[in-house]
Amino acid sequence: MNLHRRHFLILTGIAVAAAALPLETHAAEKLKIGIIGSGNVGSALGGSWLRAGHEVMFSSRNIEHDRSLAAKLGAGAHAGTPQEAAAFGEVLLFAVPYRALPELGKNLANEIKGKLIIDACNPFPSRDGEIADWAREKGAGLASAELLAGAHVVRAFNAVGAARMGAAYKEPGRVGMPIAGDDAEALKVASDLIRDVGFEPVIVGGKEMGQYLMPGTALAGERSADEVRRIAVGLR
Ligand SMILES: NC(=O)c1ccc[n+]([C@@H]2O[C@H](COP(=O)([O-])OP(=O)(O)OC[C@H]3O[C@@H](n4cnc5c(N)ncnc54)[C@H](OP(=O)(O)O)[C@@H]3O)[C@@H](O)[C@H]2O)c1
Repeated sequence: MNLHRRHFLILTGIAVAAAALPLETHAAEKLKIGIIGSGNVGSALGGSWLRAGHEVMFSSRNIEHDRSLAAKLGAGAHAGTPQEAAAFGEVLLFAVPYRALPELGKNLANEIKGKLIIDACNPFPSRDGEIADWAREKGAGLASAELLAGAHVVRAFNAVGAARMGAAYKEPGRVGMPIAGDDAEALKVASDLIRDVGFEPVIVGGKEMGQYLMPGTALAGERSADEVRRIAVGLR
């Protein structure tokens, strides 16, 4: 693995999150990916990233589940605690109920610092309680960035079904994946990982656009990349 500490590049006028550290990964590498939440979304994306040649550590509060998932998926798959997965991953996927984010953000603060976090989590008041009301009011992109402070958060995978996430590699590029974040290098690494699982990434804007990356918005569902681009223009 060829990793270098690098300084921020402000490539396209996208603002860089002031509190976050420089990203330590490059795009187009085989990466170690730490997955926090190994349910429908975490297991589907983890399986697809393994297929693409990345190394994955699954985690949840149920290590036995994660061990058997890793054993089933074979070489390159590991299981650990959320802390171990967050330390293992050069890139992290968070795929937990939104209500888990405040505590995870605090407990994993050291491990997530400076890393790309792909945030698939959606705030649903009926499931997640008050934190979801707060996140919806603030906008999920801004809310997740605050809860996972110090990381480079990119929202993605928020409004496509988990089954599609595990099957998109069969029809590469057919479905466009809207993504939002503030750091250019993080967006580039996320884009490569999204292509690796079979979607065509579409950067729709900075973290304020993360409010549209969840079920029930105009960008939700399966659409071509061109369609995602067209809809995103109308939202800005
Ligand atoms: N399902 C979909 O099609 C879909 C699509 C897009 C986005 N999403 C969003 O993605 C997130 C995950 O959805 P999902 O369907 O994968 O949910 P899920 O199947 O219920 O999986 C959630 C995972 O998170 C773990 N978890 C829960 N609390 C945790 C904590 N405090 N620390 C560590 N791990 C924890 C759970 O295991 P333990 O409870 O054993 O810890 C489980 O592995 C949600 O926010 C959802 O809204 C879902």
